[in-house]
Amino acid sequence: MAPPMTTVADEAEVASIKTLTNAGAELNSVPFEYTYIKNPKDQANASDPEHSIPTIDYAHLTSGSPELRSKAIEKLGKACEEWGFFQVINHGVPENLMKSMIEACQKFFQLPEEEKKEFQSRKLLEPIKCGTTYNFAIEKVRLWRDYLKVIAHPDFHSLQKPAEYSDISMKFSKQTRQVATELLSGISESLGLEAEYIAKAMNWDRGLQILAANYYPACPQPDQAIGIPPHTDHGLVTLLIQNEMGGLEVQHNGKWVLVDCAPGSFVVNIGDQMQILTNDKYKSVWHRAVVNNRATRISIAVPHGPALDTAALPIPELLGGEAPKFIGMSYEEFMELQASPASWIRPCLDHLRVKAE
Ligand code: OGA
Ligand code: NI
Repeated sequence: MAPPMTTVADEAEVASIKTLTNAGAELNSVPFEYTYIKNPKDQANASDPEHSIPTIDYAHLTSGSPELRSKAIEKLGKACEEWGFFQVINHGVPENLMKSMIEACQKFFQLPEEEKKEFQSRKLLEPIKCGTTYNFAIEKVRLWRDYLKVIAHPDFHSLQKPAEYSDISMKFSKQTRQVATELLSGISESLGLEAEYIAKAMNWDRGLQILAANYYPACPQPDQAIGIPPHTDHGLVTLLIQNEMGGLEVQHNGKWVLVDCAPGSFVVNIGDQMQILTNDKYKSVWHRAVVNNRATRISIAVPHGPALDTAALPIPELLGGEAPKFIGMSYEEFMELQASPASWIRPCLDHLRVKAE
């Protein structure tokens, strides 16, 4: 049966999570529409060092020493294959630029609701948009987070308010894209391809980059709500930063693991387009954002994808006699599919999967 659809008007009337949590009277329980209870087997274990995401040293990856570089590339390939997630240290993006970016987003979220209204849009590729739950029909629960999404590439867009957002986000998006470009080259090489292979095939010079900020206020009953339910990211690679609060959990060997990363590092994950290119070798891993009862968490996810008109297909050189497991679909159509109820019924990647004979 088709899920009940909420209309655009319904969605626009839903208050932000900031409004709900600032509503004066002390909120001491999670309202019904926000109640999301995890299956006990889906609780994350406290992070243990044996089970934390791998670390990639960017200075090694970009080192002039062929030996250091090839070791880093080998480690990168292993991280993509075994985890689909890793943290990147020594990347050279100044920690104070990351902090300023988080603060600028925080100021945006704290603007009066009236001033944010103009950015409430249901259009997938609106250059600037904000909101809370994306699609109540799909998610079936209201999310304990507000979001702001600004497209930074191929065309750079910016908010006027807060005033500093423009300058900071310009610097941050450029430098983050530079790191993503290097990672993409390293990933290409880790697959035995020339460094530029994936960038060329995906028209990376026109590739999409989104600055997607998430605002998760403290929650009175964190185990009864969810920031973002389990999902995979649609692009090639996502780079994420956060304030001092953790909350990102990734699925690994059937268990949920809380990501514990070094301050100032990027958390990076492989997206669906990369899983298609590699014919399932590098996995776009399920992850989610949980909330806490101590302080507001802010994260900025920066998904990087192909050009919108470009379709990822399994790379012929990687097949080694295997049949391609996916059909092609332009990145724009893929994103539309991910945002549609079809992906509620079946994970988005499965819609492109070639059926076994
Ligand atoms: C996302 C995401 C996780 C987080 O925005 O796609 O997975 O920790 N965010 O905020
Ligand atoms: Ni994500």
